[in-house]
Amino acid sequence: MTRIFSGIKPTGHLTLGNYLGAVRRWVRKDQHRAEALFGIVDLHALTVEHDPARVRRLSRQAATLLLASGLDPERCTLFVQSHVDEHARLSYLLECVATDGEMRRMIQYKEKAAAERARGGSVRLSLLTYPVLMAADILAYGTDEVPVGDDQAQHVELTRDLAVRFNQRYGHTFTVPRATHPRVAARVMDLQDPRSKMGKSHESGAGIVYLLDEPEAVRKKVMRAVTDSGSDVVYDREAGPGLANLLDVLAACRGEECDPAAVAAEYSSYGALKRDVADAVVELLRPVRKRHAELVADPGYVDGVLRTGAGRARGLARPVVDRAYRAVGLLPPV
Ligand code: TYM
Repeated sequence: MTRIFSGIKPTGHLTLGNYLGAVRRWVRKDQHRAEALFGIVDLHALTVEHDPARVRRLSRQAATLLLASGLDPERCTLFVQSHVDEHARLSYLLECVATDGEMRRMIQYKEKAAAERARGGSVRLSLLTYPVLMAADILAYGTDEVPVGDDQAQHVELTRDLAVRFNQRYGHTFTVPRATHPRVAARVMDLQDPRSKMGKSHESGAGIVYLLDEPEAVRKKVMRAVTDSGSDVVYDREAGPGLANLLDVLAACRGEECDPAAVAAEYSSYGALKRDVADAVVELLRPVRKRHAELVADPGYVDGVLRTGAGRARGLARPVVDRAYRAVGLLPPV
């Protein structure tokens, strides 16, 4: 059976980008067709300055939101990365396979390190080695497919390179995984700055739709979205990124098969399009918010899911990571 792994980092509240780029497919497709594992990858949240209490809060919130979105613990494994030691254990071995140059070429490293320096801060070493830990997350489970948004493509490519290199040097140990991306909305852009990705943390938040935003807040953000000069509704990501982003979001809300260029043909004004986008997003998120409120009232349930999930994840990762330890020449415990 196909094995799937994907993860989400508790560095901020989950966004519409996370939902359309990744979570919705986990819920609607991946958990039904494969043996799927989804991690709240909390170790990754420590690569930039962080507040411990906030990371804890966001980890729990992310787990609750994934369940509220429809992940079914009977069908998939949901767990917290730091509850499974195998991730960190394997990460070190992969650091011994990866090169310094490879790490420095990662786009997200370059961007985040530059931003950190511009703020006058120092860059944590873990920010540089982050993609190796991500590779460990994936390879520890013999993963075939990694459903992610576009922004993670380079990291999954690196994971493939590391798996192939390890296998060539030390004998076949890892499955070589591949990334899968949604057909539309693989990169949802910030509504105020449509040339940048909608990320969890942006200074103002005005261009970011959070899954837990009140309907009124969603409407306001969408109606104020930056659109391009001109008045024709056409789909052109280069020339009109603001409009294209709204069309992507609306198409994605209607379903993965919906073509944003065809959606454009239905509209003759930006205002009407924005109203429909706002309605579609509000309706998309309504059941998630409702279920989230119910689950928040039952933290024992969420804890139970995470406990069972970690147990299952450990059982799957342990033999793979043990095999890797033997393969590189480490003496088995006596
Ligand atoms: P993270 O937490 O930034 O995002 C989680 C998932 O959401 C997708 N995503 C988006 N998709 C479309 N448009 C957007 N604006 C948008 N923003 C985020 C991401 O592509 C991702 O699929 N490094 C990863 C977490 C990670 C991971 C892994 C993922 C750690 N280990 C192993 C897969 C497999 C990250 O920072 O995702």
